[in-house]
Order: sequence, then C-alpha cells, then structure tokens
Amino acid sequence: MRVGVLTGGGDCPGLNAVIRGVVRKGVQEYGYNFVGFRDGWRGPLEGDSFQLDIPQVRGILPRGGTILGSSRTNPLKVENGIRRIRENLTKQEVDALIAIGGEDTLGVAAALADEYGINVIGVPKTIDNDLSATDYTFGFDTAVGIATEAIDRLHTTAESHMRVLVVEVMGRHAGWIALHSGLAGGANVILIPEQRFDVEQVCTWVTSRFRASYAPIVVIAEGAMPKDGDMVLKDGSLDSFGHVRLSGIGEWLAKEIERRTGNEARTTVLGHVQRGGTPSAFDRWLATRFGLHAIEAVRDGDFGKMVALRGTDIVRVPIAEATAKLKTVDPSLYEEVSVFFG
Ligand code: F6P
Repeated sequence: MRVGVLTGGGDCPGLNAVIRGVVRKGVQEYGYNFVGFRDGWRGPLEGDSFQLDIPQVRGILPRGGTILGSSRTNPLKVENGIRRIRENLTKQEVDALIAIGGEDTLGVAAALADEYGINVIGVPKTIDNDLSATDYTFGFDTAVGIATEAIDRLHTTAESHMRVLVVEVMGRHAGWIALHSGLAGGANVILIPEQRFDVEQVCTWVTSRFRASYAPIVVIAEGAMPKDGDMVLKDGSLDSFGHVRLSGIGEWLAKEIERRTGNEARTTVLGHVQRGGTPSAFDRWLATRFGLHAIEAVRDGDFGKMVALRGTDIVRVPIAEATAKLKTVDPSLYEEVSVFFG
C-alpha cells in the first residue's frame, strides 16, 4: 500500500504532528510506503511529491507550519484538474490519499471521494474551529492561547494610559477564537461575525468600563460587521476558493470609539501570529490522534470519511458532513458570555 499525504489551505499549528502520526503508525504497524505531496492540491495536480519515511518525520512534533507546504490551489477550478490528479496518483502508484485541511481542502476531498471514487481520508484542521462534525479542530487551542496571552498583556498597557484597546483576531465567518480568547482574557466586549454589532452599544460598554476606573479591552473577529455596515476588506482580491482578504474592522472600530466617546483608542491586529509557531500540548495530542486514526481508516478501506473528535473519542464521519455547513457560534452561547460585557 502506498499512501499520499497533503496539507492544504491556511496552515496551522499541529499539521506536522498529524503527518508524524500517520507515517509512524503506517510504517511501523502496517508496512506502508508514503509520498508527501507539496503545497496542498498543487502537489497531486502537478505530480510534485517526495518520499516520506520515518527519518523525514523525526523531530517535527513541536514544529509549527507543515513540512509538506500548503496552498489554496483549487483543482476543481483548473481545467482537467480531476483527470490530472487521477493520472498522477496512478503514475505514482498511490492507492490512498490523506488530505489534511479545512472547509476548502476537505470540500475538494469530498468531491474526489463521492463523485470520482478516489480513495481519500480527511483530517480536520483550522485555527478557526469552524468545521462541523468535530468538536474541535487542531490549531484552535494554540491560536486561542496566543490571543489570550496578547489580551493579558494589553490589559496592563491599556490601564497605564487609560485607553481603549481593540484586539482584532482571525475568524472570517465564525467567532470561536474571539469568544474563547475574549472570555479567557477577561475582555469587556467581544464581537463576532455571527452577531452584527451596534457601535453605540459598544461605546456604552466602553464608557461604563472607564467609569469603574478600568481600561476596556474590545476583542473583535476580523469578519465582524456593524449593524449598518459590511465586512471590512483588506483589498478586493479573491483566492481560488472565492474568499476575500479581511482585516481592518478593528481599526475602523477604534476610530469610531474615539470619535463617539472622546476616549483614546488603539488597535492590535494579531494576524498570522495566531497561526505560527509551536502547537500547544492539546493540539499536539489531538493532531497526533487524528493522524493515528486516519491511517487506521486507510487500513480499513473506509474511504470518503473524515476523522473527528466527539467528546474524548475519535470517530469517522462522511467528509461531506463536515463541509456541508460551517460550525458557527450559537446565539445562546454568545448570550451566556455577554454577562461580562461593559
Ligand atoms: O485559516 C483560516 C484563516 O485563519 C481565516 O481566519 C483568515 O481569514 C485566513 O485564514 C487568512 O489566511 P491567508 O492570509 O493565508 O489567506
């Protein structure tokens, strides 16, 4: 058995831990051979791969990024993309493919499995934690840890100057990072894409925090939108999955708060810091277990499935189940956390 592995979409901490889990168990217990495809779907599309064996995965457990490289290449948008992938898999004698990715990468994996009968197993990753069918994706815990540490640090400088500090975190359509880090970091306002916000209400919370002699911290997800406005785009560019580049809502909100309340405000955009560096212990644990279960699914011939976390168990679900709908923050959960606003 020869197994291909690829990592697609935005990278996240823990990708290398999955690769290591897959290769270690696959070689040691099943005697499989592995090829690593470079840069997500670009690898199988162009036949760009290299031999993966135990020496290549030594020492990578704590390393961020991915030894395979990543890209947002969408083979469904490339002429004869699926035929080329099929031909390259046959040429390289690859019997099964493990695709580690988020909504976009796994959307392609679902199409390859369901419509074209290619032997694919999916592994869910994304710092955004917005994939359905799994309680958590790896990468999320690390991102929340990084954002929480930043919020902790911003409290003291905000208080020294009695300023408002607006912290913009990642989260295009789902506010999981904002919600978890905002709660863990004791933010006074948390704004998420799922709930349009009222700027006047935000200013009221900010003012009441100042009245209690503390400086307010506002955590905002990059995809959050005011009631009467739209998403703030970095520029007009789209990636091959049709996503716009976001960022700027934090700066916009800080200016509005200054203008409406007269309080000085500053913005910190955490950006790709949330995606880089060493994974947390939880993400190493989760990513490793996903890897071990993914190669077990290959051995069982249980293709078209994604490994998923349910409670403390790793289960298998149809890949399409995970990509059909984004997992967003439920209004009741947001309401629960809002007791700390203001
Ligand atoms: O991985 C998802 C994500 O973290 C989004 O929250 C964010 O909008 C996007 O990646 C940005 O990724 P890139 O800069 O790599 O296009």
